[in-house]
Amino acid sequence: MNIFEALRVSHETQRALYTRLLATEGDKPMRQHVFTELKRELLAHETAEERCFYVPLFAHDATVDASRHAIAEHHQMDEMVEDMEGMEPESQAWMEAAKKLADKIEHHLTEEERKFFQEAGKVLTEEQKISLAKDYEAQFLTLRIKDE
Ligand SMILES: [Fe+2]
Ligand SMILES: [Fe+2]
Repeated sequence: MNIFEALRVSHETQRALYTRLLATEGDKPMRQHVFTELKRELLAHETAEERCFYVPLFAHDATVDASRHAIAEHHQMDEMVEDMEGMEPESQAWMEAAKKLADKIEHHLTEEERKFFQEAGKVLTEEQKISLAKDYEAQFLTLRIKDE
């Protein structure tokens, strides 16, 4: 598995979770459960991705802008999640915030997959693509378990 395939595993999990979240209809315990799962998945992915993908990409001029942009979006998503924690899960405002978060996540994942992965593919060596995948998976699992 290379780093791009490894990152895509969590991307698909995030897509499945935001789809489930938007399908919850005022069921408060279910909403909270799916929201917590999405939050844990997002946080573990963002941190592991920053450490094992964007940090090495900062070393190359061609991928500095992409890295900066992606990390800024991670921060924006974290703030959206934080705002939702202060909202009533059965409220209209909560669902509107959930839709905005889902849109933001999808925008971010699509940009990474269609643009940043291509740019990274040109600067990382084949060996790095494999070794970074291993580093990322270990980081992701550690962070995910810590947050359980
Ligand atoms: Fe990301
Ligand atoms: Fe990602």
